[in-house]
Amino acid sequence: MRGLPVGPRTLRARLITGVLALLLLTCGGVSLATTELLRHFLVGRLDQQIAAAGARYAASLEHAGGPNAATDTRAQAPGTFGARLLDGRVTGAGVVDGDADDADVAAGDRPADTDDRVDLSAADQGHLAALPPDGSAREVGLGRLGDYRVRAVAGRDGDVLVTGLPMSPVEATTNKLVMVELLVFGVALTATGVAGALWVRLSLRPLKRVADTAERVSALPLGCGEVTLSERVPDEDPRTEVGRVGSALNRMLGHVEQSLARRHLVEERLRAFAADASHELRTPVATVRGHAELALRHPGPVPDEVRHSLGRIEAESRRMGAIVEDLLLLARLDAGRPLAADQVDLTRLALDGTADARAVAPDHHWRLDLPAQPVLVPGDADRLRQVVANLLANAAAHTPGGTEVTVHLASAPGQVVRLAVTDTGPGIDPELARQVFERFVRGDRARSRATGSTGLGLAIVHAVVTAHHGSVELTSRPGRTVFTVTLPATA
Ligand SMILES: Nc1ncnc2c1ncn2[C@@H]1O[C@H](COP(=O)(O)OP(=O)(O)O)[C@@H](O)[C@H]1O
Ligand SMILES: [Mg+2]
Repeated sequence: MRGLPVGPRTLRARLITGVLALLLLTCGGVSLATTELLRHFLVGRLDQQIAAAGARYAASLEHAGGPNAATDTRAQAPGTFGARLLDGRVTGAGVVDGDADDADVAAGDRPADTDDRVDLSAADQGHLAALPPDGSAREVGLGRLGDYRVRAVAGRDGDVLVTGLPMSPVEATTNKLVMVELLVFGVALTATGVAGALWVRLSLRPLKRVADTAERVSALPLGCGEVTLSERVPDEDPRTEVGRVGSALNRMLGHVEQSLARRHLVEERLRAFAADASHELRTPVATVRGHAELALRHPGPVPDEVRHSLGRIEAESRRMGAIVEDLLLLARLDAGRPLAADQVDLTRLALDGTADARAVAPDHHWRLDLPAQPVLVPGDADRLRQVVANLLANAAAHTPGGTEVTVHLASAPGQVVRLAVTDTGPGIDPELARQVFERFVRGDRARSRATGSTGLGLAIVHAVVTAHHGSVELTSRPGRTVFTVTLPATA
């Protein structure tokens, strides 16, 4: 499954954020619903109170200060708002005082109780005038007085009487509820986050064990040789998903282990066969060659055809001997036979190798680029000599006369030694270059027979260098081919 393009990556983080997001949504929904319900309930109650109060207070405003004024307002809850309108104009407005028994009365043209005077702005008066006198409750904003729930009814003498109660207690109560909910939900979310993280971590522990095992297995060098694959997932409970994955993985590891063991057996047999075959061929090949040489030295007249045949037999058995030696060497390197541990002077090997190559291919230009100090590496002198010889033989055999070949040697910093053989020949085809270090891989097959090519030279270079814990690289383009051998400078 591909991950989401945004958000957390690990399964653990995604589970926790998912749960928290759901919880947050639920809390938000609950909060909205409860505040809305509470508000609805409180407003309903307010409307009942307004209806119960009737329009007596508003009606009394007409006779402010009259004999009934005190009794009219005494019956009203503190904060009750009243207004009387005539022809769309407010003739009196007041709010019942919280601590006094009398009404706060204000009238457009009449002086009233100055302590409790209520001034209505033109906008507020407009709001009141717009109320339909049908006895239904509505909400109006009355400037600095705040929001009121009001109800307008038609009076007896053509006036409109407005009675209202402030919304502020409703707002305060709902605000308090919201605050409490915020607090409770905040605590719940935090607790869920912490407990959920622990729970998810605990639940995913078996999955982590599977992942750890898979990771350890993937880090094992399974490429070749004998491999012990003892890693197994501890959880195999078939009732759980992770247990099923675990047991499937274990079964798969078992199969892989079996296949690897079988592969190792086959490799061992092949190696033993190659070693035995080349070993067994050594003596008969040497015998054939010896007899051919002997026959050639036979005194007395030998027909030319016989001499030619004997010459061919001798040359081919020499070549065959070389192939058998190469195969035997590869079989021994494969078997991991210990190498000699000499202190090898690579400078000497480069000098000798170049001298030999110059003798074999005098038309090439052989150059040496060596440091003043001898370069020493630990290793097997005969094998390393073969590495230099094979690289130089290739430079001689696979490039035309006149090619410049340079042997460069340097001890690079970081305790490694580099030997590079560079030629200005036609280069190696990229297709061939990819597999040139494998056995029996060679270029032009038709020509190769004539030149004595076997395709084992570079395979030996690779095997010897690897046995020395070094590496060999090839870079090639027409006009510049470089084989670079890197060897550790200390054992
Ligand atoms: N310096 C080189 N220039 C061009 N081609 C090369 C060079 N070295 C190696 N090759 C190619 O790589 C092939 C494999 O080389 P090698 O393993 O030594 O086998 P062989 O020399 O017996 O053919 C050669 O057949 C040749 O085509
Ligand atoms: Mg070669």
